[in-house]
Amino acid sequence: MRTQYLPLMLLALYWGVAAAQLRSPDVRFEPTPPAVVQAMTDLAAVRAADVVYDLGCGDGRIAVAAARLGARGVCVDIDPQRIAEARENARAAGVAERIEFRNEDLFATALDGATVVMLFLSPEVNLKLRPKLQQLKPGTRIVSHWHRMGDWKPSKSAQVRLEGRNHDVFLWVIPASPGPAR
Ligand SMILES: C[S@@+](CC[C@H](N)C(=O)[O-])C[C@H]1O[C@@H](n2cnc3c(N)ncnc32)[C@H](O)[C@@H]1O
Repeated sequence: MRTQYLPLMLLALYWGVAAAQLRSPDVRFEPTPPAVVQAMTDLAAVRAADVVYDLGCGDGRIAVAAARLGARGVCVDIDPQRIAEARENARAAGVAERIEFRNEDLFATALDGATVVMLFLSPEVNLKLRPKLQQLKPGTRIVSHWHRMGDWKPSKSAQVRLEGRNHDVFLWVIPASPGPAR
C-alpha cells in the first residue's frame, strides 16, 4: 500500500463510521404548511433575541421563518438530504448566515442557548424528548405541531384549519425552577 494514500483512507473510514452512526429517521419527512409555520412562530412569539431550534427540521422552513423574524436558527435533522435542502432554502431566502445546520440525531444534539424549540414529530418521540426539554432554562418555549407531550399540559394552543383538517399547535413554557425546600 502506498503510504501517501493513508490520510485519505483514514478520512474515508472516519466518514463511513460517522455516516453509519446516524440511524434511520424516527419520523418521515412531512412539511408543516406555511400557515401552520406562521401559527407556530406566533404562538412562540419569536423575536430577534431568540435562538430557535427545529428538532427534525426537514427542509428548514421553520428555521427560515424564525430567521426572517431576526432570530437565530438551529436546524437539526438526521437525514443529510433534508439538511442539504434546508441549507439551499435558507440560502435562497437570504438567511443562511443566521442558521446553524446539524446533520445529527435530535436525541443527541446539544440544545445550548435554546430559547424556543419547535417540533413536528410524533407523540412517542415528543414523550421521549420530554425529559431533555424539561431541563431547558426557565422561560424556554416549546411548540409542537399536531402532537402533544403526554400528560404535560400545554399553556396555550392554536388551531389552523386547512383543506378540511384541523392543525393543532401547542405551547409549553419551562417554568421557573422551584425555590429551595423550606
Ligand atoms: C414531520 S418532518 C418535520 C419537518 C419540519 N420540522 C417541518 O415541520 O416542516 C420530521 C423530520 O424529522 C426528521 N427526523 C426524524 N427522526 C429524527 C431524529 N432522530 N433526529 C433528527 N431528525 C429526525 C426527519 O428526517 C424529518 O425531516
